[in-house]
Amino acid sequence: MTNSIYVALDFSSWEEANSFLVTNDLYGVPVKVGMELYYKEGPKIIEKLKENNHSIFLDLKLHDIPTTVMKAMHVLAKLEVDIVNIHALGGSEMIVRAKEGLINGNPNGETKLIAVTILTSMEEHVLNNELKLTGNLTDTAVHLAKLACNNGADGVVCSVHEVEAIKKACGDPFITVTPGIRLTHTDSFDQKRIATPSVARSTGADHLVIGRSITKSSNPKEAYKLAVKEWEEAYDN
Ligand code: C5P
Repeated sequence: MTNSIYVALDFSSWEEANSFLVTNDLYGVPVKVGMELYYKEGPKIIEKLKENNHSIFLDLKLHDIPTTVMKAMHVLAKLEVDIVNIHALGGSEMIVRAKEGLINGNPNGETKLIAVTILTSMEEHVLNNELKLTGNLTDTAVHLAKLACNNGADGVVCSVHEVEAIKKACGDPFITVTPGIRLTHTDSFDQKRIATPSVARSTGADHLVIGRSITKSSNPKEAYKLAVKEWEEAYDN
């Protein structure tokens, strides 16, 4: 799997997403399909994107009882996307069963199972005071990453600021996918733990997810090119 920037297609329909891709000449770029688009369009959106040569991260963040997650993964495995994900907070048994469903649903499939550690929109005081997950945020993210890697996940979704500690704890091949990426001079929107593509690369992140910094830009095509340039230059250094 090559190191990629996945553009988050946070649109409400195929027409909107496709119009964005066509207007901005973004045919074939890696894309992330989240809940909004998938719930609206269903599996056919994956077929359409694959017909146009997009690699796909299907970001549905499963979190349910282990058997339900296993059965859902069995179904998703047949879509043959690059990446699917679950919440590490679902616990060890859920992670094991998710992987089991993915393998049994498509024994020759190459889809990677990634676990969300702590959402990049989350801040430490919310973790401590609302969710009663004590300790600092990085330690909690690393703890959840270890839980994921010890139970068969291929990697995690985490903030850029946690990549180094997670690689140290889980090894370099363990994949880190980082949202919360902002290009210089763009709004942070609701993300709290943000960084630029070059900072992400310097920490060793394997893949980036970028949404609004590109999709809400006045020139999405240029914003995408800028992100790729920053990412690849940092990668070459
Ligand atoms: O617009 P922005 O770049 O903040 O979009 C980030 C995307 O990544 C959104 O689609 C969001 O759902 C997703 N994501 C995230 N944090 C995670 C996992 C996924 O922001 N931990």
